Amino acid sequence: MPELLNRKLWQNQLRLALARVAMIKRFHALETVDSTNHFARDLAQNRAPAGTLVIARSQSTGRGRLNRAWHSPKDLGLWFSLILRPRIDSRHLGLLGFLPAVALVEVLHQHYQLTASTKWPNDVRINRKKISGILCESQMSGNRINFAIVGVGINVYQKTDDFPISLQARATSIQESTPTPVNAIELLVSLLNHWHDLLMALESGDLGTIIERWKKHCAHLHRQIVIDCETEQIRGKFIDLSPEGAALIENERGERKLIFVGESTLVEE
Ligand code: BTN
Repeated sequence: MPELLNRKLWQNQLRLALARVAMIKRFHALETVDSTNHFARDLAQNRAPAGTLVIARSQSTGRGRLNRAWHSPKDLGLWFSLILRPRIDSRHLGLLGFLPAVALVEVLHQHYQLTASTKWPNDVRINRKKISGILCESQMSGNRINFAIVGVGINVYQKTDDFPISLQARATSIQESTPTPVNAIELLVSLLNHWHDLLMALESGDLGTIIERWKKHCAHLHRQIVIDCETEQIRGKFIDLSPEGAALIENERGERKLIFVGESTLVEE
């Protein structure tokens, strides 16, 4: 199909699909961009409303957590960022990235009978391989949240060879995990609608729902993990998720510690 027609078709499909999502007020559908999070941040700083979605067919320098790169090849996944101006206590801002992770796990189960799991902080995995990562950024004025950008990357159609060699053992895609044909745009609609319900729960102060559902889907709850933090490695049992989104870890001496930033790995992996 000629590229221009292909582009118009994609934009039209998105326009029709996103009309079914109450949370989305505006959207920018880009052929390619450095990072949808960068693009969304510029929009948010220029007063774009909550519910503005930026989605791209590819990203040239997609970003992951902890300054890593995020591989975002054209049309093989969903690469998007959502601008939010959540009406929540800033102490719970750290929970925001857990919502799309819970939503994705539940949508994959409902629509594709897939069992996916959450991994602290914001990964979603199938068979211990990553299918999605989430990058949250925010701007505050004192204690007030000006805006948050929630960037979501979902591997939808990649085959093993489509991932860089360094990722092939650790990443997979949804389509690699199910024989049912996956429609990325329909998946996006279901995910956003589910996410919206969770956001309303969070805004109404129902943190318990978010935390319990995330824990229910978490594969390493009550198991030994290692968390690589910037300056140290912390080893212990994953006990709980705090209302700030931190991991509560207990070491072999029974001492407990909250970890706010890091990368977790199950010890037996
Ligand atoms: C991670 O697992 O480290 C987070 C990955 C987040 C990737 C998404 S893709 C859309 C948005 N734009 C970016 O540059 N990053 C996020």
